[in-house]
Amino acid sequence: MLILGIESSCDETAASVARDHTEILSNVVSSQVEEHKLYGGVVPEIASRRHCENVLPVVQKALDDAGVTLAELDGIAVTAYPGLIGALLVGVNFAKGLALTAGKPLVPVHHLAGHIASNYIAHPELKPPYLCLVVSGGHSHLVEVLSYTTFRILGRTRDDAAGECFDKCARAMGYPYPGGIHLDKASKNGNPDAFSLPRPKIAGNAYDFSFSGLKTAVVNLLHNTAQKGGTICKEDLAASVQATIAGILTEHTMRAAREHGYSTIAVAGGVSANSGVRAAMQEACDKQGYRLYLPPLHLCGDNGAMIACAGSYAFDAGIRADSSLNASATMELTAWGELGVVKN
Ligand code: KG4
Ligand code: ZN
Repeated sequence: MLILGIESSCDETAASVARDHTEILSNVVSSQVEEHKLYGGVVPEIASRRHCENVLPVVQKALDDAGVTLAELDGIAVTAYPGLIGALLVGVNFAKGLALTAGKPLVPVHHLAGHIASNYIAHPELKPPYLCLVVSGGHSHLVEVLSYTTFRILGRTRDDAAGECFDKCARAMGYPYPGGIHLDKASKNGNPDAFSLPRPKIAGNAYDFSFSGLKTAVVNLLHNTAQKGGTICKEDLAASVQATIAGILTEHTMRAAREHGYSTIAVAGGVSANSGVRAAMQEACDKQGYRLYLPPLHLCGDNGAMIACAGSYAFDAGIRADSSLNASATMELTAWGELGVVKN
């Protein structure tokens, strides 16, 4: 089975062809990060315009690299939700046109289901059910993966996503957008115990996350120190922030695994590239005797391969869209299948 996957939910235009779910024949990513860096974050209109320019050459290259023609495809999968609406619309409309022209089924994919699928590519032996921590720039979810296409959400962030917290702390420290990776690099030369940062306890669901207090504490610490004419060792602060975020994510995941009886755990999304998060999760899982799955670094951020893979499983599950498919900026992972989707 050959599925083309198209991704345009944020600032990466990406496409990929997957054979039999997990064999990736091509994976083309055109990143706009250098342009958005000038503005300190993603500018939605610029993102949409670049997707418009890039989507055709990116998809063409994905087919060429795979040595596959449109006619040979079994289906065309596209990220339809959630994300920047103007960015999503470009990929969705392109995929609709392509599916119509080629006479192929159209498969709408939830972006987070895509991130979750990134682990199947590197670890085809990973099979539901298991527990997945999905941490990106826009989301922090603790998800029970019940099947390849059905999920239950145990916890989520009440405010900022983990990646957003990394980026906002990094920005306050003077690193360019997106700051997570710079903070990660700086932390390698810092002392994670140098600063004691808040680990917010929130009422209600014990699995939920809250990161805005941590961000505020970092911003205040930097301001107060500057006002007093002092200096802060950026490496130490980076290491302390990273250890705090990694600690919160790991603690919640381990608690959920223990209380829900999971011994297979995965991490996915852009923040799964973070060296501190990977190490903390590995250490905690080793201690408990749990099996941990992490995506390879090139599949942590947004890419087309994860959409082609998730789209392949969705294709099997009968998830289809007709030409009335619309994009949506928001969509619950658990509701995948309800918006403009025809379930066979
Ligand atoms: O999944 P993703 O590429 O896009 C979204 O769906 O949001 O995630 C991007 C997020 C950004 O916040 C970025 O700073 C963060 O992932 N990120 C990292 C690292 N690499 C990417 N955060 C911390 N450490 C990293 N090494
Ligand atoms: Zn993403």
